[in-house]
Amino acid sequence: MRTYLITGGAGFIGSNFIIYLLEKYKRDIRVINIDKLTYAGNLENLKSVEKLDNYEFHKIDICDKEAISKLFAENQIDRVIHFAAESHVDRSIRDPEVFVKTNVLGTINLLNAAKLAWEREKGYIEDKVYIQVSTDEVYGSLEDDEGYFYETTPLDPHSPYSASKASADLLVKSYIDTYKFPAIITRCSNNYGPYQFPEKLIPLMINNALAGKKLPVYGRGQNIRDWLYVLDHAKAIDLVAEKGKLGEVYNVGGHNEKRNIEIVSIIIDTLLELLPADDPRRDLVSHDLITYVEDRKGHDYRYAIAPDKIKKDINWEPETPFHEGIKYTIKWYLENGQWMEHVTKGEYQHYYNQMYKI
Ligand code: NAD
Ligand code: DAU
Repeated sequence: MRTYLITGGAGFIGSNFIIYLLEKYKRDIRVINIDKLTYAGNLENLKSVEKLDNYEFHKIDICDKEAISKLFAENQIDRVIHFAAESHVDRSIRDPEVFVKTNVLGTINLLNAAKLAWEREKGYIEDKVYIQVSTDEVYGSLEDDEGYFYETTPLDPHSPYSASKASADLLVKSYIDTYKFPAIITRCSNNYGPYQFPEKLIPLMINNALAGKKLPVYGRGQNIRDWLYVLDHAKAIDLVAEKGKLGEVYNVGGHNEKRNIEIVSIIIDTLLELLPADDPRRDLVSHDLITYVEDRKGHDYRYAIAPDKIKKDINWEPETPFHEGIKYTIKWYLENGQWMEHVTKGEYQHYYNQMYKI
């Protein structure tokens, strides 16, 4: 039975990935989920799998050397899928240090533990794979409406978040180049879907609109992101772990570029379409809520991935059309009001009040 170590599995993409993996492989695999449970980690996401006897959770900080070494010593880990990170650009602009701690030092700690556990006199134990889940933001910003990020595009991160992710990628690359460490890096575009924390554009706008609160659009809302449904990302990571070539980088993207203002408008229209006429929240949702606010510092203009290599080498391509994925996502938030209530208590409220003075 193959054992997966998933880091950051209580976060948005990590929890969607675990649910997908256990659904796909059922009892043929064992999943160990480790997460520090920061403000972004929520075990409620994993309710559907928490009772399975081939799933276990440990509250561990990836920077904790002792705990990570113990985990490798006590378990025959075959796959490391490394999601754990501080993931929000705006928070990184306000408080960069924790991004370096978790994203850089946490990554080297995992690399060292996996290398020690997997290395033999001649090479590594067979069939071990480490996946570094990275981001298209490491490539920086496309400054006009043409062109794409390729795996060969030079790294040029701008925010403290993307700089910390690029640093982690370079450490992984150095372990591949120096020690022939069996790793692969994936670099994905913006994800959306269930369980995303409402500090990020799509769930923040859904949550605010339903409460009749202003919708804070940075600058003029003209920045472009390439949106991918989270399940498509989960499928890509699984395929890369099984069929990807060790030492390679794979870009993962949706070929679904949209300006932020377009996304916000689609959310409002979809909410108005989905909310029943007698739902009191329907009267609160309106395009008039859109409020242009001060731009993000160093705001990257456009991200766009060319997912040609992953299509050619391992036959992955995005499956979920945006109009379906966004409808499903909005339905999920409408049906899971309690989830939203739980995650927006306490620390989030404090963050929101500091961040948006509107
Ligand atoms: P998230 O913020 O929702 O989840 C991150 C998880 O990591 C949380 O559960 C948190 O508790 C955990 N964590 C944070 N610090 C930790 C530490 N020191 N030790 C252990 N656990 C810790 O993030 P996400 O959006 O799910 O992103 C997951 C990964 O995917 C990140 O590495 C991110 O850079 C990458 N990524 C995200 C996107 C996106 O659009 N969200 C796109 C491409 C790549
Ligand atoms: O591209 C992949 C990256 O996508 C991931 O690596 C990051 O972890 C993830 O957070 C995401 O980064 P972005 O900065 O692109 O996502 P965010 O949802 O924060 O913002 C999306 C766009 O919307 C961006 O141009 C800023 C804008 N925005 C965001 C918020 C939260 C607004 O206009 N208003 C807002 O309130």
